[in-house]
Amino acid sequence: MWSSLVEDPRRIGGWNAGRPACVVMAMTTLGLIGAGHIGSQIARKAVGQGYDVVLSNRRGPEVLQDLIAELGPRARAAGSPAEAAEAADLAVVTIPLKAIDTVPVAPLVGKIVIDTNNYYPQRDGQIPALDQEQTTTSELLQAHLPQSFVVKAFNHIQAAQITTAARPAGDPDRRGLVAASDHATALSVVARLLDAFGFDAVPVQPLSESWRIQRDTPGYVQPYSAPQLVHALAIAKRYRAM
Ligand SMILES: NC(=O)c1ccc[n+]([C@@H]2O[C@H](COP(=O)([O-])OP(=O)(O)OC[C@H]3O[C@@H](n4cnc5c(N)ncnc54)[C@H](OP(=O)(O)O)[C@@H]3O)[C@@H](O)[C@H]2O)c1
Repeated sequence: MWSSLVEDPRRIGGWNAGRPACVVMAMTTLGLIGAGHIGSQIARKAVGQGYDVVLSNRRGPEVLQDLIAELGPRARAAGSPAEAAEAADLAVVTIPLKAIDTVPVAPLVGKIVIDTNNYYPQRDGQIPALDQEQTTTSELLQAHLPQSFVVKAFNHIQAAQITTAARPAGDPDRRGLVAASDHATALSVVARLLDAFGFDAVPVQPLSESWRIQRDTPGYVQPYSAPQLVHALAIAKRYRAM
């Protein structure tokens, strides 16, 4: 774990005038909004890396008790998503895309928020702005959380592989995973998290380019190394061009 990724605050926060700077002091607690396939796997890796994790869901903390018991003393269930967001040094939104409007805004102001979401119309309903490719899933979350620093990550790996595919740095089978953001500092924080979890980060900027790893693109859920993933991103096509 890192404890003081602090760049010169005068050099960060130049994202947009009027928005708060992303000043990363110490990251010890991951707050998860969503504790399903992906949320539980991120929690497992995070606990293994020495983080505390605070998990939340839709149905309430009682249904998380088995997972909390498995994760051990570093984990607790929040009474609500807002409580998990409040506790987070680094937050993760990992719920069905159709529910992102329910993500609490105020407790995430000024925080880095990892977004794992993908768009599946059969699950999420039709979202015209996505159907017409006017925006991306993560830009929708960024628009909902205008004073947070959204980083898309973990959206193109099957949940189980977050633990099974992790490899140490330098391993020839190490897999690449995208970290996409408008904000360089937030992106570098998540890149370091990916590295600690056992993956090579492939940075993508700006966030609007994250369509390159959306559902059905060449790199989506493929077990690619970082160079292979860079190539897959480069050859990705918009849905309208497929
Ligand atoms: N599964 C994968 O392999 C995979 C891979 C990459 C990306 N993704 C994407 O990651 C996201 C999460 O996928 P998943 O497979 O982990 O989903 P999942 O297993 O269905 O879990 C969803 C979690 O979100 C919670 N939730 C639902 N609505 C909520 C709300 N309004 N507020 C707070 N929590 C809420 C659920 O709580 P309850 O259980 O109480 O309903 C559950 O804990 C999706 O966008 C998915 O497309 C999934």
